[in-house]
Amino acid sequence: MQQRQRLVLLIFSLFLVFQTSNGHNITRLLAKHPSLSTFNHYLTLTHLAPEINSRTTITVLALDNAAMSSLLSKSPSIYTMKNILSLHVLLDYFGAKKLHQITNGTALAATMFQATGVAPGASGFVNITDLKGGKVGFGAEDNGGSLDSLFVKSVEELPYNISVIQISKALPSAVAEAPTPGPSELNITGIMSAHGCKVFADTLLAHPEAMGTYEDNVNGGLTVFCPLDDAFKVFLPKFKNLTASGKESFLEFFGVPVYQSLSMLKSNNGLMNTLATDGASKFDFTVQNDGEDVTLKTKINTVKITGTLLDEQPVAIYTIDKVLMPRELFKAAPTPAPAPAPVEAADAPKASKSKSKSKSSPDLASDSPADSPNPADQAADENAGASFKGGRSVAVGLSFLLVFLLL
Ligand SMILES: *[C@@H]1O[C@H](CO)[C@@H](O)[C@H](O)[C@H]1NC(C)=O
Ligand SMILES: *[C@@H]1O[C@H](CO)[C@@H](O)[C@H](O)[C@H]1NC(C)=O
Ligand SMILES: *[C@@H]1O[C@H](CO)[C@@H](O)[C@H](O)[C@H]1NC(C)=O
Ligand SMILES: *[C@@H]1O[C@H](CO)[C@@H](O)[C@H](O)[C@H]1NC(C)=O
Ligand SMILES: *[C@@H]1O[C@H](CO)[C@@H](O)[C@H](O)[C@H]1NC(C)=O
Ligand SMILES: *[C@@H]1O[C@H](CO)[C@@H](O)[C@H](O)[C@H]1NC(C)=O
Repeated sequence: MQQRQRLVLLIFSLFLVFQTSNGHNITRLLAKHPSLSTFNHYLTLTHLAPEINSRTTITVLALDNAAMSSLLSKSPSIYTMKNILSLHVLLDYFGAKKLHQITNGTALAATMFQATGVAPGASGFVNITDLKGGKVGFGAEDNGGSLDSLFVKSVEELPYNISVIQISKALPSAVAEAPTPGPSELNITGIMSAHGCKVFADTLLAHPEAMGTYEDNVNGGLTVFCPLDDAFKVFLPKFKNLTASGKESFLEFFGVPVYQSLSMLKSNNGLMNTLATDGASKFDFTVQNDGEDVTLKTKINTVKITGTLLDEQPVAIYTIDKVLMPRELFKAAPTPAPAPAPVEAADAPKASKSKSKSKSSPDLASDSPADSPNPADQAADENAGASFKGGRSVAVGLSFLLVFLLL
């Protein structure tokens, strides 16, 4: 009897421990399995780990170290690795049981690769088929029907949030494996011009020093928030009024010297330094989330992210609905309504070191393990506390249920 009570207590406290890590952490889940360590490492390097953590109802098709070696023997760039590995994240939950009981014995699953929009047509889908003898085969849909990657075992299952299963080898896919252009080949002003930020892009091109700062950061990580044409056109008289150095700082203010995916921005409330940040000249803004919306604010005004023009590590470009005004260059409009209380003191800025880093060495996007303490992980860390409460009640509820069952 005593033993049983101790067991109950143990389970109860296990649940309490569990809830502090509420919301799965793929890095931690895989860390328990040394044979999957290379795969785990690359999920971090490619910044896929925070993307996986931010989703539920997904399945990760993990590869053991041998399968990863054979994949890496082709020396894919880190960007290509990201495409390949994102093909291994299915946007549906397949536990071991469900895999063996697929309706009609075959199914197509959408993947994170398909969700990036990089994959054309059917190439982002994975075919799962129950084969003879209880085997389950996997194949990329653009792969001519070959299903020679086989289910090995279930690794972790947290129904119905995330299932990690091991498969025998990487899913071959010509599209995912195609060499991706490196970031230095990106024409960021071209992308902006073609998608509603032409006035901003042209202004940037007309100011080579600011443009140079953007270019210097493209390899090491860059996030651009470009004001849409209508907003920027109206703003031009104010811009023209600035001094030469004011213009440069102003233009640099719309770039952040780290890569931030939308899910990182959504989980990352706080101060963000910009390309214009330089010692005492803060030129920073606050990122705030309101449901699905992400807003950027200074003491002068608040703008909203309205779209994604590019999100391919290490570069992201988003559109914003208005021109964000740095308080270093503009005075708050003399309207009677007082500006909202400052929230500036909140979080320590994390981009501060990144600026000097990315300015001095634009070549940081290597696939070397030294890359590790990356902004993705930091952003994810800051997110850790966010969904805490829901987890607690579920965990406590489950614990009581267990207590009941055991007594
Ligand atoms: C299974 O096969 C039957 C008969 O071919 C079809 O009517 C049904 O829609 C299929 N179900 C699924 C989930 O594909
Ligand atoms: C999956 O591939 C197999 C073999 O090529 C094919 O017979 C099956 O129809 C495919 N399943 C789906 C859902 O497309
Ligand atoms: C980038 O795009 C702009 C606008 O489309 C174009 O004028 C420029 O020539 C392009 N630069 C390169 C290097 O391709
Ligand atoms: C330009 O600057 C002058 C002097 O500071 C100011 O009076 C004027 O309102 C400014 N114009 C715009 C469009 O901001
Ligand atoms: C996930 O786990 C890893 C390894 O334990 C840790 O470094 C990271 O901070 C965790 N991330 C979150 C979001 O908790
Ligand atoms: C699934 O995710 C929800 C929300 O993050 C969490 O409350 C729940 O505990 C998770 N379930 C499992 C089995 O981890």
